[in-house]
Amino acid sequence: MNKFVLENLHVKYSDGVEALKGVSLEIPAKSITVLFGPAGGGKSTLLRTLNRLNDLSDVTEVSGRVAMFNSDSSATDLLNPRLDVIALRRRVAMVFARPIVLPMTIRENLTYGLTLAGERSTIRLHEAVERSLQQAALWDEVKDRLDEPAISLSGGQQQRLCLARSLALDPEVILLDEPTSGLDPISTTKVEASLQEIKMNYTVILVPHSIQQAARTADQAAFILQGQLIEQADGKELFLNPRDKRTQDYIEGRFG
Ligand SMILES: Nc1ncnc2c1ncn2[C@@H]1O[C@H](COP(=O)(O)OP(=O)(O)OP(=O)(O)O)[C@@H](O)[C@H]1O
Ligand SMILES: [Mg+2]
Repeated sequence: MNKFVLENLHVKYSDGVEALKGVSLEIPAKSITVLFGPAGGGKSTLLRTLNRLNDLSDVTEVSGRVAMFNSDSSATDLLNPRLDVIALRRRVAMVFARPIVLPMTIRENLTYGLTLAGERSTIRLHEAVERSLQQAALWDEVKDRLDEPAISLSGGQQQRLCLARSLALDPEVILLDEPTSGLDPISTTKVEASLQEIKMNYTVILVPHSIQQAARTADQAAFILQGQLIEQADGKELFLNPRDKRTQDYIEGRFG
């Protein structure tokens, strides 16, 4: 089942840069879709279209169709100007390259969003804290220090806390834009392991920080070059047998 269907998506910034030039892509639910390609190709722009974060940047023109499917198989038109973007961002969470923890305790980082959304039950808040930390592969490391400042965590732990913070709100989709680019290999492995768990229940869309990470994590992969989708394939197929010469060159390190 598809979670998103994109048809002929064009996105242009106010400086005239056409970041996406007619991208059509299907993104299945409950699996990891990897979007990879050289710098400036439009990967972040594409991710930001899926939770309307582009509304906050200098985007002047968007056209095409972006549909998100709901559990009852109805579709939400993500380009609808009247869409409730706050509600959308609860359903489609984003984790960025650099961890941004709130200046609060570890626990408060996780309960903040839920409390804002009106949750008052201490039991349910604690359940969300434990569940989200387990899902982000961080529980064992922090369970005895939940009331310490989040800033006292290592970079890799802070990034998993950011992932847990998204998961605490129980979204349907997690977008990750190079989430491990600043992390050491051990923290990277933990984040990747967490994504493998999470994908059972959530749709995960990852912009990886390397081709190796793309190949390790992808259930589906899409190669994006200069605003265009060059090819898309299931599993490791794209890395083992790229069909397009440009994909092959990129995977083999001939450019980018
Ligand atoms: N806020 C913005 N205003 C103007 N142009 C932008 C903006 N954000 C991105 N662009 C341009 O749009 C194009 C696509 O950028 P985008 O950040 O989506 O690429 P990317 O594939 O994520 O690159 P990277 O791998 O470097 O993160 C680039 O030419 C970029 O300069
Ligand atoms: Mg980017």
